Amino acid sequence: GAPGLIDRFDREATDLRVSLTDKCNLRCTYCMPAEGLPSLPRDQALTADEIVRLVGIAVRDLGVRQVRFTGGEPLLRRDLVEIVERCAALEPRPELSLTTNAIGLAERATALAAAGLDRVNVSLDSLHAQTFLDITRRPFLDRVLAGVDAAAAAGLGPIKINAVLLPGVNDHEAPSLLAWALEKGHELRFIEQMPLDIGHTWSRETMVTAARVRELLADRFDLALADEPRDGAPAERFVARGRRDEAGLEGTVGIIASVTEPFCADCRRTRLTAEGSVRSCLFSHTETDLRDALRGGSSDLQVADLWRDAMWAKPKGHGMNDASFVQPSRSMSAIGG
Ligand code: GTP
Ligand code: 5AD
Ligand code: SF4
Repeated sequence: GAPGLIDRFDREATDLRVSLTDKCNLRCTYCMPAEGLPSLPRDQALTADEIVRLVGIAVRDLGVRQVRFTGGEPLLRRDLVEIVERCAALEPRPELSLTTNAIGLAERATALAAAGLDRVNVSLDSLHAQTFLDITRRPFLDRVLAGVDAAAAAGLGPIKINAVLLPGVNDHEAPSLLAWALEKGHELRFIEQMPLDIGHTWSRETMVTAARVRELLADRFDLALADEPRDGAPAERFVARGRRDEAGLEGTVGIIASVTEPFCADCRRTRLTAEGSVRSCLFSHTETDLRDALRGGSSDLQVADLWRDAMWAKPKGHGMNDASFVQPSRSMSAIGG
């Protein structure tokens, strides 16, 4: 068939991340300033029709097999259930997942599962109300926990929980977060903080590294590298076995070491921003607009060609560890995690 989304470094993107909105209902300190960020004017965001058309082009013409909806916070899209349902009706049907902070998920988990959503990943950095508030600046821990339970009950598992550890804020919680996730049967992943926030709060000197996460967990868990191929996944997975108070707890934990152990050479991702631009990498300095082509009457094949050209130019890696590294000017919430 027609070529997929290949780049100069011989990678092929089969995993699409679609940002449905740049708005968010939390204000995590490592992502946004307290007052939030300006959001896209409504007419600049893609409509449900445009999103479904682009996902259709991706699965039919470009070899994409997995589609993940992100944000901002994707549950803030009123038409999320409709978007999921229409994407689930595409041929070939992509695997459909959602990365969310789970606020409002309790009310919509059943409808999302019925619409064809396969699974969810939930961002949760603390299980203590005060620490949750310190990080997110919003008092919504209970709603997040209710969302996680509702997603599990609706069959949206295996559920992955994403936690970013901040030094002196929630890093001491690493073992208790893992104990909680293992008890619930969810897969916890610790994510190294990346330099992607507008406020430039990231610092290489203080960031909690993958090595430090392993050290923090070793206090209460034995970790053994999981015996399975990594398969391009961002997370390195370990089997964790509890000791002492945690004896009997066992399951998988992942560490996403974007900074200290980059996985760019195996990257399979392509991204669409909420306004309809292709970003070939989280850390690209350029984007390729597809919305004008959609709105200007281009054919599916013409749009597919623009997308291929955008991905051909994908950088070799994020370059965070090079002296010449320059942080992208947009935050994670605007790019789509
Ligand atoms: P599954 O493993 O398929 O469930 O999905 P995922 O881990 O790719 O998706 P998720 O949205 O849960 O991503 C978790 C975290 O991985 C993100 O918050 C990022 O920190 C990191 N991540 C995802 N994609 C990329 C990427 O392309 N590059 C880098 N450096 N980090 C990424
Ligand atoms: N570095 C790493 N992860 C981040 N996230 C947001 N900003 C950053 C960053 N600078 C995470 C959120 C969420 C996921 C979508 O991205 O915590 O789990
Ligand atoms: Fe892929 Fe860029 Fe992420 Fe590296 S930083 S894994 S190249 S998207």
